Amino acid sequence: MKKWIPTVLAAAMALSLLSGCGAKKELADVVVVGAGGAGLAAAVRAQEEGANVIVLEKMPIVGGNTARATGGLNAAGTKQQIDKGFKDSVKLFYEDTMKGGYKKNNPELVKLLTEQAKDSVEWLENYGADMSDVGRMAGASVNRTHRPAGGAAVGSHIAMVLEKTAKEKNIDVRTRHQMTDILIDKDGAVTGITAKDKEGKEYTIQTKAVVLATGGFSANQEMVISYKPELKGFATTNHPGATGDAITIAEKHGAALIDMAEIQTHPTVVPEKGVMVTEAVRGNGAILVNKSGERFVNELLTRDVVSKAILGQQDGRAYLLFDKGLRDSLKATEEYFKMQLVTEAESVEALAEKLGIEKAVLANTVGNYNKGVKAGKDGQFQRPDLPRELKDGPFYAIEVTPAVHHTMGGLKINTDAEVLNKDGQAIKGLYAAGEVTGGVHGGNRLGGNALADIITFGKIAGLNAFNHVKAEQ
Ligand code: FUM
Repeated sequence: MKKWIPTVLAAAMALSLLSGCGAKKELADVVVVGAGGAGLAAAVRAQEEGANVIVLEKMPIVGGNTARATGGLNAAGTKQQIDKGFKDSVKLFYEDTMKGGYKKNNPELVKLLTEQAKDSVEWLENYGADMSDVGRMAGASVNRTHRPAGGAAVGSHIAMVLEKTAKEKNIDVRTRHQMTDILIDKDGAVTGITAKDKEGKEYTIQTKAVVLATGGFSANQEMVISYKPELKGFATTNHPGATGDAITIAEKHGAALIDMAEIQTHPTVVPEKGVMVTEAVRGNGAILVNKSGERFVNELLTRDVVSKAILGQQDGRAYLLFDKGLRDSLKATEEYFKMQLVTEAESVEALAEKLGIEKAVLANTVGNYNKGVKAGKDGQFQRPDLPRELKDGPFYAIEVTPAVHHTMGGLKINTDAEVLNKDGQAIKGLYAAGEVTGGVHGGNRLGGNALADIITFGKIAGLNAFNHVKAEQ
């Protein structure tokens, strides 16, 4: 496809800009900041329309938090769901998402997310992604979490597919290049960005459209506690680059922020190691027991509720308990064995002994749970989905505690993924997608909705950014 700025011309323009003055200057139709899932989706989508795109990523590798995502991508009405007999609808997906977010979500953004997530799955599949398995995450009324066959980890797969696609499309992706500012003219329109390259040299890219896709700020402990002091001392599941820099830069230029104090903990993170154990383990049937060997919560309640329940147990920790049958149903669990995070034993009683739990208590807990599964009713905690009995040894336990996982707040955007100023007007040429934005997830994000968000809004941002550039010609 023809590029909007033909490559040779762009190179010549870059050279002339370079020779004209001391600091290097370049040109692009669209600059995307951040090469996680949202940024790569935006870049690929803009390039599909013919845009000349430069992507800046401050970390040494692409992928961001997307590469760490394990659970899946929520979408309703997909072929996979239909083939497997899971009855879902956009309406149900919308209702679950709004309910999960305590209705603090922006309904228009949720409408877009839930309507277009199915297209996001198909779009990824067109580039070679395997999204054939469909599991369930907490807060979902049906199985709608799409991931590779056998329940293998989804995020690294999607990141790899998008990175490969970007390479094939000759998109200029620059790692260890960090945006230092956004350039905005006196009329309030974006004219470019400044950045630092690998050697720390400053340069400018002139562009009429910037997509911010830098992720959230879970790895910025100071920023987290400035909005939610009670999270002081919590570890995070995030990659170290999730520090919210673009939020600070955009705010300086008048961007409005929303829901900044809405910060989510993930309930099942291995203490001291900071490794997140995917919610899909509970979704596929694992239970949580405390150090006395008793269940204490419906494991499929939302993350805020389950986190609070764990923090209320002895030492603020719990064990995630599952069996060989579950391990076989979810390939993603193999990583936890490789990392030696799992205590295992041939029987529930032997596992109890290893964990220092009264054998009879743990055996009774598992026995009661299995009775509930057989009866199709969890009389103790009303867990809505009971996919399997825990009966096939070996039995496994992983010690877990909550850690900071997702910052639901961020830059306020409209349905075109334009960043809004404090008067509710779009900042001309400034777009944002993914965790850097706020409003999609309200007071609590459902598992599987982050990947749906980044791909769906990444595509929307990439397309609209380039449409803006064309309209400005
Ligand atoms: O538990 C998880 O796999 C996390 C998924 C998510 O945050 O969407």
